[in-house]
Amino acid sequence: MCGIIGCVAEEPVAGILLEGLKRVEYRGYDSAGMATISDGRLGVRKGVGRVSEIEGKQRLSTMSGSTGMAHTRWATHGGVTDENAHPHTSCRELVAVIHNGIIENYLPLKRALKARGHKFRSETDTEVISHLLEAEYKRVRDPLQATRAAVKKLKGQYAIAAMFQDRPDVMTGARKDAPLIVGVGNNVNFLASDVLAFIGRTDRTIFLDNLEVVEITKDAVKIVGPDGRRVRREPTQVAWELSDVSKSDYAHFTLKEINEQPRTVVSASVQDPERVERFARALKRAKSLYITASGTSYHAGLLMKFRLNKEAKVRADVVVAGELKEHTEFMGKGSVVVALSQSGETADVLEAVKEAKRHGAKVCSIVNAAGSTLARESDVVLLLNCGPEVGVAATKSFTAQVVVANLVVDAVLGKKRPNGFDELSDAVAEALKCERQVKDLVNEYRDRPDFYFVARGYESPVALEGALKLKELSYIHAEGMPASELKHGTLALIEKGTPVVVINPSGPSHAESLSNAEELKARGADLIGVSDEKDEVYRHFVRVPAVQPKFMPIVEAIPLQLLAYHFAVARKNNPDYPRNLAKSVTVK
Ligand code: F6R
Repeated sequence: MCGIIGCVAEEPVAGILLEGLKRVEYRGYDSAGMATISDGRLGVRKGVGRVSEIEGKQRLSTMSGSTGMAHTRWATHGGVTDENAHPHTSCRELVAVIHNGIIENYLPLKRALKARGHKFRSETDTEVISHLLEAEYKRVRDPLQATRAAVKKLKGQYAIAAMFQDRPDVMTGARKDAPLIVGVGNNVNFLASDVLAFIGRTDRTIFLDNLEVVEITKDAVKIVGPDGRRVRREPTQVAWELSDVSKSDYAHFTLKEINEQPRTVVSASVQDPERVERFARALKRAKSLYITASGTSYHAGLLMKFRLNKEAKVRADVVVAGELKEHTEFMGKGSVVVALSQSGETADVLEAVKEAKRHGAKVCSIVNAAGSTLARESDVVLLLNCGPEVGVAATKSFTAQVVVANLVVDAVLGKKRPNGFDELSDAVAEALKCERQVKDLVNEYRDRPDFYFVARGYESPVALEGALKLKELSYIHAEGMPASELKHGTLALIEKGTPVVVINPSGPSHAESLSNAEELKARGADLIGVSDEKDEVYRHFVRVPAVQPKFMPIVEAIPLQLLAYHFAVARKNNPDYPRNLAKSVTVK
């Protein structure tokens, strides 16, 4: 997973590239680099570190040239070293390439290229592309044709952008199972892994399809399909605005995004009723129904399944996306797969969808990024409308998913357009007021090595989500589970002072959860209750407002998100960029 931005303009591009690179840094932040062509020479500067560090060390902003590309890396192939940072050049530095993805056949290609005298400088699979491209370019002397010929030899996933020293007016790109889009401006065109890279300059976007190859100049875009034929596609206007991708007055994107939720739960609810109806109809008619997603989106999927089963009496299986291919025995024509994804580019989800389609299943998706691969490959799509989520941890996208999933389930239940979103928005705003209390909890528990989250029934996925959020932001070991499961093993780990968050709204499972809480307390646990109903069993109590039961996970998620965020800050982690993680997991 890496961030790509390339730009051909009339003016110097270093500043434009840096601005874009910082916005796609959430996609990877091991190392970064930039290449430009100036006075007929291709220059590359790169190194290990965050964009701001490389910018300072390598003085990226001083690179001249009106054609350039930049990359932020999340290492998947080859260690985090200066040499492995992108861009990669060919032997004679005639060609520079940036890449996101994995080239599966890089070894045989590398051997063959070495045998032909090519010298490699890095351990990456990407460098193979630059040598291949150089060889093809020498042969055909046409950037677009050379790119087509080179990518035909690649197996695996890729989104690439390439520059050619003797053609400073041109940049080429290609994609297969990894995102690459075109930004169309006035006397400036872009290639990028997502809209955020160029949103400050243009909102006109062309989404490339798989296996398409593109050539941009400052004022033209030429797309060629896998059959070599010219593809004509008009740009679409994306709804995201520059203000959506600034931190405003917040210290971190994650905190800003947590605080946006009173608004985003409402914007997520604004859906075309006809489309919701189509989605619901597909679910009702499905011969077999699967819900699939990864990480936080999977937790939203679990919530969706619960109501589909219990209230709508529609049978659904939920399978993590990376495992769906192992669960296809009953999948076929007439099956429906519901895929949830913030990015719409998660490789596991895309693979699951491909597998579903191979079996003849219909795909209905709930996704944030309009124009993403998932959105374009689905039969019915509902968008989350919560704006770009830059913080690596999913926060507002989770609550938006819960809203949209609930709209679908309500439609399956034949309910008229549900309301109550203004009240939900107020409740989320109220829940956010727990921040002071959360900070006190962080002070008390910041050095504890383990945290547990328990809940029952509909809220069980919220326990999983609380634990996931804490792990990824604070690096504290955390586990979430149904409270009923404790006694089957985990109770052995509870000792004096072990913090356990008990998510326990008033309702059918309240009393049972309280019994589990008592059990935990008897073993010395420090209980942190998250509920609309207080009980003396809790050592600490975070009150969340009572809302309709189907929306309780939304208000319960708020203190858990804040807890993870403030733990990260207290432990001096950067909550926007947790170690080893990237926002959009575009590799399997
Ligand atoms: C957790 C998190 C990840 C994502 C997962 C799926 O905070 O962000 O677990 O939820 O990688 O990503 P999407 O929803 O983009 O498919």
